Amino acid sequence: MRTIIKNIKELVQIRDNHIDRIIGKDMKVLPTIKNAYLIIKNDIITDFGLMKDLNHLDFDKEIDATGKLVLPSWCDSHTHIVYAGNRESEFVDRINGLTYEEIALKGGGILNSAKNLQDTSEDELFVQASVRIEEIIQSGTGAVEIKSGYGLEIGAEIKMLRVINRLAHKFPIAFKSTFLGAHAFPESFKNKKEEYVKKICEEMIPQIVQHDLAEFIDVFCEKNYFTVEQMETILETGKKYGLIPKIHVNQFNSIGGVESGVKHNALSVDHLEIMTAEDIAVLKDSKTMPVALPACSFFLGIPYTPARKMIDQGLPLALATDFNPGSSPTGNMHFVVASACIKMNMTPEEAINAATMNGAYAMNLSHSHGSISIGKKANLIITKPIPSYHFIPYAFGSNLIDQIILNGNVY
Ligand code: NIG
Ligand code: FE
Repeated sequence: MRTIIKNIKELVQIRDNHIDRIIGKDMKVLPTIKNAYLIIKNDIITDFGLMKDLNHLDFDKEIDATGKLVLPSWCDSHTHIVYAGNRESEFVDRINGLTYEEIALKGGGILNSAKNLQDTSEDELFVQASVRIEEIIQSGTGAVEIKSGYGLEIGAEIKMLRVINRLAHKFPIAFKSTFLGAHAFPESFKNKKEEYVKKICEEMIPQIVQHDLAEFIDVFCEKNYFTVEQMETILETGKKYGLIPKIHVNQFNSIGGVESGVKHNALSVDHLEIMTAEDIAVLKDSKTMPVALPACSFFLGIPYTPARKMIDQGLPLALATDFNPGSSPTGNMHFVVASACIKMNMTPEEAINAATMNGAYAMNLSHSHGSISIGKKANLIITKPIPSYHFIPYAFGSNLIDQIILNGNVY
């Protein structure tokens, strides 16, 4: 099956396929071709160039993109999409004055979602998560990472990870799974935290790896959650079993999690709302991708990741939604890109690089996703007619998508 997209007003994010991520001042550059064509064979991008250089060949399908832009699909490297129900009552509690931390200390928050998930069947969870996946596909996401972490006991954690597996078989986007048993301490382990850490290391990790249910391992390293030492124990065990660290750090406090993540070769360190000069310095020249989650800052009213400082000091940055019921009930990458520009002073070029190439890197997918490159997956967004890619963050509340291409097919 050969498909051509013709008369593309601007083909955005063109990269050589050996480039794996975009760092520091290079993030200000977003390579494009105006008046372009793009050819897809089956599910792969095989050619692109200027319309004037197109040799007329036979295609099975032609798409006319006059006035429209073509971009790689968004790569959302941090979500918790498999959850049961919602937490809109806690949202109202926050409006009435309680903080996210106060709600969690009263047994709400992650523990509230865990109770709900434990009482929900795998099939029902799959139905609820499928609705959210359909929604993120319609908003332009073509690769997604999903974490466990609302089970907090082995059966429920496995249930979540099995749902991710089933989603991966049902939907034509790329999926990555992360084991986040260390998301919070269950109520029954409140006074014996070391025992829960032991349970994660000795029971959960071995079983999850045995059933091949996750590629990454995550820990919520934060005051009242997991200490740096507990995180290190869990990451070291995970690594012994072949799991790659990708961690939650510096959401409310800087307690040394970034440095520890870099030391343990974490693929990414995520949240980073609170960053000290040392946290920024330690990420420099490392292979760890910092990931900002501006929809979480927006929803909780907490600081935004200091992206400007980080990029100006030579760091790369990825953007993700953190789609979850408590701190970011949205999977809309368009909103995330817009928030990064409006609230974090990132340029449209930086934000698009962060939401495509660098997001792919933060999921170990930059060989196949995140850019317009020969040999990469044809997961693409075709926009409605718009003036330029600057219009994407500018028109933050509009649906600018005309067509979605996934694995070379119109979705
Ligand atoms: O990334 N901070 C930890 N975990 C999630 C929120 C989980 C929840 O509130 O349910 C996050 O923000
Ligand atoms: Fe998260």
